[in-house]
Amino acid sequence: MDTPMSDKKELLWQSRFSEPFDRDALLFSSSVHIDKALFREDIEGSIAHVTMLAEQDIISDAECADLVQGLREIEEELASGTLVPHWEDEDIHTVIENRLKEKIGQTAGKIHSGRSRNDQVATDTRLYLRKKIAELQDAVQAMQQMLIGKAETYKETIIFGYTHLQRAQPISAGHYYLAWFSMFRRDRERLRDLLRRVNISPLGAAAFAGSTLPLNPARTAELLAFDDIFSNSIDAVSDRDILIEFISACSIMMMHLSRFAEDLILWSSYEFGYLEISDAFATGSSLMPQKKNADIAELVRGKTGRVYGNLVSMLTIMKGLPLSYNRDMQEDKQPLFDTAETTISSMRIFTKLIGHTTLKVERLRSLTSEDLSLATEIAEYLVSRNLPFREAHRITGKIVTFSISEGITLPRITLEQFRTFSPLFDTAIYDSLKPEASVNSKKTHGSCSFRSVEAQLAEARAQMQENR
Ligand code: ARG
Repeated sequence: MDTPMSDKKELLWQSRFSEPFDRDALLFSSSVHIDKALFREDIEGSIAHVTMLAEQDIISDAECADLVQGLREIEEELASGTLVPHWEDEDIHTVIENRLKEKIGQTAGKIHSGRSRNDQVATDTRLYLRKKIAELQDAVQAMQQMLIGKAETYKETIIFGYTHLQRAQPISAGHYYLAWFSMFRRDRERLRDLLRRVNISPLGAAAFAGSTLPLNPARTAELLAFDDIFSNSIDAVSDRDILIEFISACSIMMMHLSRFAEDLILWSSYEFGYLEISDAFATGSSLMPQKKNADIAELVRGKTGRVYGNLVSMLTIMKGLPLSYNRDMQEDKQPLFDTAETTISSMRIFTKLIGHTTLKVERLRSLTSEDLSLATEIAEYLVSRNLPFREAHRITGKIVTFSISEGITLPRITLEQFRTFSPLFDTAIYDSLKPEASVNSKKTHGSCSFRSVEAQLAEARAQMQENR
C-alpha cells in the first residue's frame, strides 16, 4: 500500500510538500464515497462562482465559457456514471477540478480564484439542505392530507382514548387523527423557519478570512437563489448549526412517526384488534403461519434511533472545535445525508402505510359501548345534578368496583342498583352511558366531540390551503 500517488491525479494542496501524501493517510481522509452525492450542488455553486468571476473581470468571458461548458459536461458524466469518482481524489470538489483540468487544461485552476473548499463545501451543504427541506415539506404535507382524509372517514367512529395505556375516555377517531395532524403541522413550521437560516450564501468567505480579489458575494447568492449573504466570513465556514437544527427537526419528526408507529403496532395486534393493515403492507413469519406483522411501522420506530444518533454525533463533533474550519467537520455529511434520506423515506412510507389501514368499526362500536371508560360520564352526570366533583368521583369509584365484582358492564347496571349509590340517579343516566353521548357531551374548544372534530377539520383544510 505504500506506492506513491500516481502523478496524473493531484491533490489541491500538494505543491507545498516534498513527499507525496501517504496512501493510507489519504484513504483514511478521503470523503469521496460520501460527498460524491453533492456533485450537482458543487457544480451549480462553481458555475455561479465563475460567472461572478467573469462579471468582476477576474477571469475572461472566454475562460468562463470554457469552465461552464466543462462543468456541465462533468455533471453529465457524473450523472450517467461515465465518470466514476475515485477515492484518490480526496473529495468531490477535487474530483471535479481534476476532471476539469483533463478537459480544459490549466484554465481549470481558475475555478478556485477567491474560493476555498471551506466556503465551497458550506455552500454545497446549504444547497443540499434547501433541496431536502423542500422534499421533506412535501412529504409532511402529503401525510397531513392523508390524516385529513382519515379524520373525515372516521369522524363519527368512536375509539378509546388512552392515558397510561389504560382505556381512559371514548373519543372520535377523527380527533385522534387530527392530533397527529397538529404535530406534523409544527414539524412543517419548524422546517419553514429553518429554511430562513439555511438559505443564506457563505460563498465568498474563502478559507475563513475573505479574499483579496474583488468578489461579489451578493451576485453569487443571487445566481444560486439564496435570500441573503453571510455577515462574517469566519462564521460562514465554521458553524454547522443549521445542519444540527435540521437533524434536530428530523429527530422530532421521527419521534412523532415512531409514536404513531407504536399505536399502529399495538392497535393491529390481536389483543387490541382495533385496526387492520392491508396485506400489501403487512409481513408474515417464516415460521408461524398465523402471523401478520407491522414490520414497516417497526422499522420506522427503529430508524428513529439512528436519526437520534446522528444528532448526538453532530453535536459531539462540533462541541470542542476551535474556530474556524477543522477537518473534523468533514464528518458532518454522513449523519446529514442519512438523516435526510431516512426521514424523507420514513415519512413517505408511513403515509402510504396509514392509507393501507382501516379501523374495525364494528368491533370498536361493541367494545366502546360496554366499557368502563364511560365511568367519567357517571361522575359528570352527578356533577350536573349539583354534586361536588370529588364526591361524584368517590361514588363513581364505588360503582366501578361494583361493576367489576358483579361482572356487569356499566350500561347494564339497573336504575335500582344505581340508586343504592346515590338518589340523584334517574333514567337519564342511560343516555349518558352511550359512547356517542359521552363524546358529544364535551363542550370545550378543540375537544373530542363530533362538532369539534368538524371544526378542527375545517381549520386543517384551511391551513393546507394557506400553506400551499
Ligand atoms: N472535504 C472537506 C470537507 O468536507 C472539504 C474542505 C476541506 N478543507 C480543508 N481545509 N481541508 O470538510
